[in-house]
Amino acid sequence: MPKDPQTELESGPRHVAIIMDGNGRWAQARGRPRLFGHHAGARRVREVVEACPGLGIKYLTVFAFSTENWKRTQVEVAGLMNLFRRYIIKETRTLADNGIRVRFIGDRVRLDSKLIELMDSLEEETKNNDLVHLTVALNYGGRDEVARATKRLARDVAEGRLKPEEVDEETLPKYLDTRVLPDPDLVIRTSGEARISNFLLWQSAYSEYEFIDTLWPDFTAAELARLCQNYGTRDRRFGAVLV
Ligand code: FPP
Repeated sequence: MPKDPQTELESGPRHVAIIMDGNGRWAQARGRPRLFGHHAGARRVREVVEACPGLGIKYLTVFAFSTENWKRTQVEVAGLMNLFRRYIIKETRTLADNGIRVRFIGDRVRLDSKLIELMDSLEEETKNNDLVHLTVALNYGGRDEVARATKRLARDVAEGRLKPEEVDEETLPKYLDTRVLPDPDLVIRTSGEARISNFLLWQSAYSEYEFIDTLWPDFTAAELARLCQNYGTRDRRFGAVLV
């Protein structure tokens, strides 16, 4: 029986989070420098964001730079930082005009002031949008996020704004970078690696995972649609077992 497109959208994931992996291998396979792969990967971000409204995805979170990525060569790190700056400058108008609200999560302390300025202004320019909420994880690590959250929480306890007995599963997430976002329903990792790599550790406790072989620069909207469909099917099957 053909599936009802509306039911399909409603049963699909509302929040999709993506570990965009495989840029380096994609470039190496073409005999090009790793940064060539990152640039190709950045173009994919746009395609995926554009596909979200049609797939019923309201929240998209992408892992752009981890707290561990500083260990890469100086050339690659500088190239990535330059790419982020250029991406924000180039995409701000399109994102703002197309109803995308952009937020950044992660620790800003190690980022350069020009990049922070651009991040702030992109968040400000898009703050009234509500079609798709795009969150970019930049200098983000799940453990680092929990540590920073705990530090803020401890300060509130020390200064009398919070009682230790009030700390529970509802309180702690209010201190996380993601405090205004729902937890991800589906986490996708590209490039054949089956690891979480410190991404949204607290938030993905109940998420479904898809580890796929496609390298990030080859990822398409069609593949995202297939994974969203899969998500719905898995949910429905689970329902069938319960009946
Ligand atoms: C992982 O591939 C990818 C990254 C560390 C960077 C992700 C960045 C982008 C996709 C570009 C820009 C994003 C935005 C939001 C503008 P890898 O280098 O680990 O690949 P490998 O595993 O093949 O070496």
